[in-house]
Amino acid sequence: MSATIIDGKAVSAQLRAELAGTAARFEQRVGRKAGLAVVLVGNDPASEVYVNSKIQKTKETGMASFAHRLPADTDQETLLALVQQLNDDDAVDGILVQLPLPGHLDAGPVILAIDPAKDVDGLHPENAGRLLAGLPGLVPCTPSGAMILVRRAVEDLSGLHAVVIGRSNLVGKPVAQLLLNANATVTMAHSRTRNLAELCRTADILVAAVGRPELVRGDWIKPGAVVIDVGVNRLAPEGQAAKGRLVGDVAYAEAAQVAGAITPVPGGVGPMTIACLLQNTLTAAERRI
Ligand code: GUN
Repeated sequence: MSATIIDGKAVSAQLRAELAGTAARFEQRVGRKAGLAVVLVGNDPASEVYVNSKIQKTKETGMASFAHRLPADTDQETLLALVQQLNDDDAVDGILVQLPLPGHLDAGPVILAIDPAKDVDGLHPENAGRLLAGLPGLVPCTPSGAMILVRRAVEDLSGLHAVVIGRSNLVGKPVAQLLLNANATVTMAHSRTRNLAELCRTADILVAAVGRPELVRGDWIKPGAVVIDVGVNRLAPEGQAAKGRLVGDVAYAEAAQVAGAITPVPGGVGPMTIACLLQNTLTAAERRI
């Protein structure tokens, strides 16, 4: 293995330690803790794990956590009413509705209903538009975390070719915009892109966010490139194991032979998402006072 491993667990722990200081100063100055409300509808096991981790880290960082667990058969009106209640609650600085929602619910109107000033996911069209226009707003957490890790490997992105695989509102589109804002030359690729392997071989920075286990092979990578793997895919269980292995969108062992720097899965981008969520909550709290 030749690549430097970019340790998202360590970087996120360092960021959370800094945020704990900011949270304590906020509480001292304002007389209350900054607060994050997390809404989980239903009992998707992966979402349960993510939400529990978000709640735990919020408390550990010295912030108030408001958890709302709704049954899987919750209707759209009930969910919208809860969002409205959280919008109106002065103790709540950030609102996160965990996605995906159960199939009978429509995420679009729910995201639109969140007060943009409390939209710590950065998914409201107002915040998405602000990112596009280069205006201050709330930036989606996984893209922010991915960028912090990119900068651990390469400080100046000017003129570098970044290829982003995946065009979701949550990751692909905002990470491409952040790379562009950092003066990279950005190509967005997706499931319909032709000659994907060839395109990836031209990338100085490769961000994989498609949700396809180990899609990106070692021979897709330009020697020395920075590889950021956003994918979290659970493979089918093997042998006696109850759970399958977690893998990213990149075939890690192969890629690490070629890349200059690479994020592992788990322990790469994942922990950064939560740290950036806490950062967004503190930013939202500061702007609200
Ligand atoms: N599901 C997976 N990642 C995320 C995220 O960053 N925010 C929300 N709301 N749901 C998610």
